[in-house]
Amino acid sequence: MKIRVFSSPQSAGLYASSLLEEAILTLEQPVLGLATGSTVIACYAALRGLVWCGLDLSKTVTINLDEYIGLPPLHPQSYHYFMEDTLFRDLPSRPKEMYIPNGMAANLDVECDRYDSIIHKYPIDVQLLGIGVNGHIGFNEPSHSLFSRTHVVHLTPETISVNARFFDRVEDVPKRALTMGVQSILQARKIILMAFGKGKADAVAKAVQGEVRTDLPASMLQFHRDVTWILDTESASALPRNVWGGHSILSEMTP
Ligand code: F6R
Repeated sequence: MKIRVFSSPQSAGLYASSLLEEAILTLEQPVLGLATGSTVIACYAALRGLVWCGLDLSKTVTINLDEYIGLPPLHPQSYHYFMEDTLFRDLPSRPKEMYIPNGMAANLDVECDRYDSIIHKYPIDVQLLGIGVNGHIGFNEPSHSLFSRTHVVHLTPETISVNARFFDRVEDVPKRALTMGVQSILQARKIILMAFGKGKADAVAKAVQGEVRTDLPASMLQFHRDVTWILDTESASALPRNVWGGHSILSEMTP
């Protein structure tokens, strides 16, 4: 596991985008597993910059982690909309194929199977993740058991209240979502997890150093051999300094 701590989300986002760029440039058919949420916006902004500077996405396949059930793709809080809005809109080159679970599917079981067959067809090279304050990854919520494959999840009251900031009213937050399972996430060749802010510090410290537990799904990442944690000084603040060196990258390099 690598831990890289940055002094700002912008510099962390730049670093994360450079890891995605490396995969896009070196692989014949790069498959990127993508996340949504506030944290990854800095990475997507930097990646957009790279695409505007000539990075070609046309051989890339993207597979998103999750989607709310019941929100149509054009709903401003759907993850379909988020991906267009924060990453893909107006780019000079777009991925050759882009997948996001269909939260409007009439038969959700069939949709889960369809999504698993996409992940099977396109094994993920680099999986980008955020982390919930409760330690969730994708929408794999803390539980006494975890699902390995794509499934329907009932969001916890904590996740609903955290995500309510994007909706007019907390009642408008969907109660269910479709999410890739933990095994699918762990099968990615490389994992990049981004986390910013004090609110994530506890979950980050437990996931990096604590026991591996199903009620802290991000702790499962300890089983993976190529995980890069991209943090800011606040989200790293509950980790002992000897774990990450105690010096944030870039704050050390800027006058
Ligand atoms: C969303 C997802 C979630 C978020 C997590 C952090 O696709 O997979 O696990 O990454 O909830 O969300 P933010 O970045 O908004 O704090």
